[in-house]
Amino acid sequence: MGESVIPLQDLRRGKPLPPMLNAAPPTGHLADALGRPLRDLRISVTDRCNFRCSYCMPKEVFDKTHAFLPHSALLSFEEITRCARLFVAHGVHKLRLTGGEPLLRKNLETLIALLAELRTPSGHALDITLTTNGSVLARKAQALKDAGLKRVTVSLDALDDGIFRRMNDVDFPVADVLRGIEEAQRVGLAPIKVNMVVKRGTNDQEIVPMARHFRHSGVVLRFIEYMDVGATNGWRMDEVLPSAQVVQQLSQAHALEPIEANELGETAARWRYADGGGEVGVISSVTQAFCRDCNRARLSTEGRLYLCLFATGGHDLRALLRGGAGDEQLSAAIAAIWGERDDRYSELRGAMSPDAGGGAKRVEMHYIGG
Ligand code: GTP
Ligand code: 5AD
Ligand code: SF4
Ligand code: SF4
Repeated sequence: MGESVIPLQDLRRGKPLPPMLNAAPPTGHLADALGRPLRDLRISVTDRCNFRCSYCMPKEVFDKTHAFLPHSALLSFEEITRCARLFVAHGVHKLRLTGGEPLLRKNLETLIALLAELRTPSGHALDITLTTNGSVLARKAQALKDAGLKRVTVSLDALDDGIFRRMNDVDFPVADVLRGIEEAQRVGLAPIKVNMVVKRGTNDQEIVPMARHFRHSGVVLRFIEYMDVGATNGWRMDEVLPSAQVVQQLSQAHALEPIEANELGETAARWRYADGGGEVGVISSVTQAFCRDCNRARLSTEGRLYLCLFATGGHDLRALLRGGAGDEQLSAAIAAIWGERDDRYSELRGAMSPDAGGGAKRVEMHYIGG
């Protein structure tokens, strides 16, 4: 590998960079320090959310006194699109918009339309998707589809209205989210995925009802192990239900068969119902880490580049964007940052003390988008 001319320490502090000396043009292939390519860019478009899920934005912490980012701090649609274009030249082919709740960002369709114009170096359109809590999806699905969004993933932790209202902690009814999913199906934002975070003792009784509801619907239901992201959710290992137990519960209700991964670095292990009822997945970041092939980068709402969901710091791309950096300089910065990446938090979690992260505060899920 060639010598990096980017002082990464300066990027972390958001200082202006010296002129580039030898910025090589992107080849469409980057490898991090562990040989992993960059394929997936997750872009957080707002740190706000209208839900207060206890595992992500507990009400006690994210109350009226919490200071969300001012509008001037957010990357503009043009800034996001410029970054995305440079990432795509480096090999990214999947863009996922996240939040907070991404559908709270005004005129999101405009951003989607800009992103939908981007092409990979070999001329292909991108896989553009979005993770939403579904609260306003019924109203927005058609406009999102028209703007060029390919598919959506909806977070839904229970079918039981009482459990769901308690988990979102703002008394939001489950029927409205189900309507959002139906509307997304109707307009063709497929394949639709539903993410259910499983917390032992809170919603594990909903595993089989959720599976039954989404069987034969074409929706791919995925069960996520409750993770120790951020510093506010009071995570405890005894609230994690290992995916192996989820699969066991499911297979007692309906026979399951494993299926091959769609692509390297996928978060979910895939299963299908033996009777043709469709597909389910389990995301086992706690009990079976999938860092080895992790090809995801995360761009925060205010333009910091994070290399891991559990990172304690990000690289300030906004300082470059607003400091007048040219495309070459930005592109070289991205390459240099990725080249140094050696994050694999979930793999190391087991070996760390409960106060993992070296005492530094980990980035919050609602800020980095999951
Ligand atoms: P698909 O392209 O639809 O497979 O999306 P995805 O699984 O990459 O994205 P999604 O937002 O649906 O991710 C599902 C959940 O897996 C997230 O909400 C996170 O909770 C978790 N997750 C996603 N990426 C990572 C990751 O890199 N590390 C860890 N530990 N968890 C992740
Ligand atoms: N553990 C696992 N998944 C989480 N999510 C948010 N917080 C956690 C956590 N602590 C999920 C949401 C959504 C996605 C963005 O991340 O339910 O599906
Ligand atoms: Fe909002 Fe999603 Fe976090 Fe729940 S998990 S508070 S819906 S961002
Ligand atoms: Fe990737 Fe970090 Fe998640 Fe591992 S813990 S899969 S490195 S984001």
